[in-house]
Amino acid sequence: MNLETSYLGLTLRNPLIVGASPCCDDIELCRRLEDAGASALAMHSLFEEQVEFEEAARFRLLEGPSESNPEALDYFPHYEEYSLTPELYLRQLARLKATLKIPVIASLNGHRPGGWIDHARRLEATGADALELNLYSLATDPDTDADTIEAGHLFVVRSVIESVKIPISVKISPWLTAPAHFVRELELSGAKGVVMFNRFYQPDFDIEDLAVKPQLRLSDSSELLLRLRWLAIISPHAKISLAASGGVHNAEDVIKALLAGAHATQLVSAILRHGPRVITEILHGLTTWLETHDYKSLDEVRGALNLSRCPDPSAHERANYVKILQSWKS
Ligand SMILES: Cc1cc2nc3c(=O)[nH]c(=O)nc-3n(C[C@H](O)[C@H](O)[C@H](O)COP(=O)(O)O)c2cc1C
Repeated sequence: MNLETSYLGLTLRNPLIVGASPCCDDIELCRRLEDAGASALAMHSLFEEQVEFEEAARFRLLEGPSESNPEALDYFPHYEEYSLTPELYLRQLARLKATLKIPVIASLNGHRPGGWIDHARRLEATGADALELNLYSLATDPDTDADTIEAGHLFVVRSVIESVKIPISVKISPWLTAPAHFVRELELSGAKGVVMFNRFYQPDFDIEDLAVKPQLRLSDSSELLLRLRWLAIISPHAKISLAASGGVHNAEDVIKALLAGAHATQLVSAILRHGPRVITEILHGLTTWLETHDYKSLDEVRGALNLSRCPDPSAHERANYVKILQSWKS
């Protein structure tokens, strides 16, 4: 069965990408993921703060200590707590490229224009096949409107695109007011793909200590539904690659993402829970489903349930919301 898919202009042997996560820190694990069938590997991100800390540290060494806002720095992990410094990140990328045959996608995580953007060139020079930009920010300032934030993000994306030749994808938030429009803006800016979506880690409250508790919970398949809806809405218009990230745990999830219009899926929680074998199992399930339904390639499946092709487009839209609420029976 031909499971090939085109993603960011790269030909992948199947649509199962290892998503941005600590998996990339362990070369042996990456080799096993490749052997299990993964078609590409996204590295975890190099963070804007990390690159800027390193530059600030270098500056402090030259100029002596001067810190305008130490509290702001307390918010982020201490420099040594990042798993890979910018230099080590480049070294790890070089090792992954020397070890793996599948494409390696580097990841930069930031949201403001700044020196960290120049790092894209170093990732390209070290051999990254593509670069994923994670524009993670929270709009906490009531004086800043959505247009300003989105314009800022597009500026960052364009700055990176102008500085490298490798394809750029952008991992976006599901909480944009107009995701379809923003994807079009990314496309016009030269991005080659969009990863849907960033998963926001929601802190909980400890009601005894009156403290806010950061926490990281792995996903389950229920998180895929948000991705399916927006893939189905965006895929009829998008000319760039679309990847589903969040809630992909089994072959059924991958098939649904393809039907919604995805070119690829990214898996993290499933791999962290079950290890590389989950990739092999999903590929087996996907192949069996394609054969049973007489499909010859993923192109025949992709987008079959998106907004322009599904038998009942209203199922994706407001009409369905009204219908669902009205049909509730206690
Ligand atoms: C431990 C861990 C580390 C992660 N690190 C990154 C990261 O550095 N950059 C990034 O863009 N996403 C990161 N993610 C998010 C994943 O790439 C992915 O978007 C998210 O986990 C949803 O996919 P899943 O449902 O398959 O887990 C991380 C996720 C986990 C669980």
